[in-house]
Amino acid sequence: MNTPIYQDRRARLAAQLGPNGIAIVPTAPERPRNRDSDFLYRHDSYFYYLSGFSEPHATLVITGDGRVTLFCQPKDLEREIWDGYRLGPAVAPASIACDAAFSIAELDTQLPKLLENREAVWYPFATHKGFEGRVDGWLQQVRARTRYGALCPEQQRDLCSILDEMRLFKDVHEQATMRSAAQISARAHVRAMQLSARMLRAGQDVREFHLDAELLHQFRLEGSQYPAYSSIVAAGANACVLHYRADAAPVRAGELVLIDAGCELDGYASDITRTFPANGSFTGPQRALYDIVHASQEAAVAATQPGARFTDPHEAAVKVLAQGMLDVGLLSKDKVGSLQDVIEQRAYFAFYMHRTSHWLGMDVHDCGNYNEPSELGHSTERKDPLSGERMQNRPSRILRPGMVLTLEPGLYVRPADGVPEQFHNIGIRIEDDALLTPDGCELLSRGVPVEAGEIEALMR
Ligand code: GLY
Ligand code: MN
Ligand code: MN
Repeated sequence: MNTPIYQDRRARLAAQLGPNGIAIVPTAPERPRNRDSDFLYRHDSYFYYLSGFSEPHATLVITGDGRVTLFCQPKDLEREIWDGYRLGPAVAPASIACDAAFSIAELDTQLPKLLENREAVWYPFATHKGFEGRVDGWLQQVRARTRYGALCPEQQRDLCSILDEMRLFKDVHEQATMRSAAQISARAHVRAMQLSARMLRAGQDVREFHLDAELLHQFRLEGSQYPAYSSIVAAGANACVLHYRADAAPVRAGELVLIDAGCELDGYASDITRTFPANGSFTGPQRALYDIVHASQEAAVAATQPGARFTDPHEAAVKVLAQGMLDVGLLSKDKVGSLQDVIEQRAYFAFYMHRTSHWLGMDVHDCGNYNEPSELGHSTERKDPLSGERMQNRPSRILRPGMVLTLEPGLYVRPADGVPEQFHNIGIRIEDDALLTPDGCELLSRGVPVEAGEIEALMR
């Protein structure tokens, strides 16, 4: 384990707790799947960010003076025979560079002692079900000792506010891990595209699960622990279902396949979408829509620069998509008016109903404030033209080097009156992962091509 990285993060956190603050960070619980078997375990991202420790049943305590205490599973030969190696509290201080370690069984007896004479207790709010109740229990015990002169913390503070901000800016270690994750995922997409064309050429019955298996194979082959989210492998009309999962539908020549899949590597996600012709050749209508989405993504890439706002790539993409919808007749000028009308009235929403970006990091939809913290007070209200709901407009986050966001415009055409039939059931999304650099952005995921001709060449 690269302990200096975690020590540095803990020190930076401690410095923000106040001299008499204390932070408590539990990891994720294990979740039963069915009798005697659990879902594959995944640590809590905040906990892992500060510890690099991925065993379940653990909690980290950090005080404002920089002292770090780990609670972890005790050594237990019988449990280790069944479930595997446990670090144990005896060697934890040397192994993860903390000051003290206890068995997790001692959490309820040690926490009241650690909380005594602190002013503020920090923990992640609304993250771990029931955790607020446990903190209350520990505080009650401290309060019971006030008659002996103990001081009880008077403030409870949301630790997410500090950690989200820290996690939003990826350090060099995180950037390198995310780059590797994206490169693995890109190679998996290349293989899935090539498999689709190869199997169809050989006259085989291709199913979505064949391509899903190919992705998973490449992820694991290159050391990824698991997919960062459930892979979407959507053949034909399934691409118009935004949260479709890889299933058993046939992958047919003449149709498109949309794959949204990314691996998680050492705690960091990648998130890539490619849409390609199942047999390697776009039809005319498919290519026409594909080129619009591609151009909109290029516009989003150009808008992804330090100093720009988080919403700028979205606005740039929407402009190109909306113009494309007018150009190819998905929207008719007679009905919806000019480009400006389409954007203001959100008429494009019929074919593009999601946002272009989200933060990416340890979590695929990563933490981080989407509003600019220095401008939170500048709020205006507006009415949403589609729902009529009142929305708060706050200045969007200013992009800075070290942030990572996705750029994922799309077009989804469900059959409907007035929609040209040649476009029915075409769903296209192109998604890449962009790391903000001092003078623009680095696309971490371009190991798989996006240009239509390059995709066709790759699949030949
Ligand atoms: N794969 C989840 C997303 O693109 O947001
Ligand atoms: Mn995404
Ligand atoms: Mn995605």
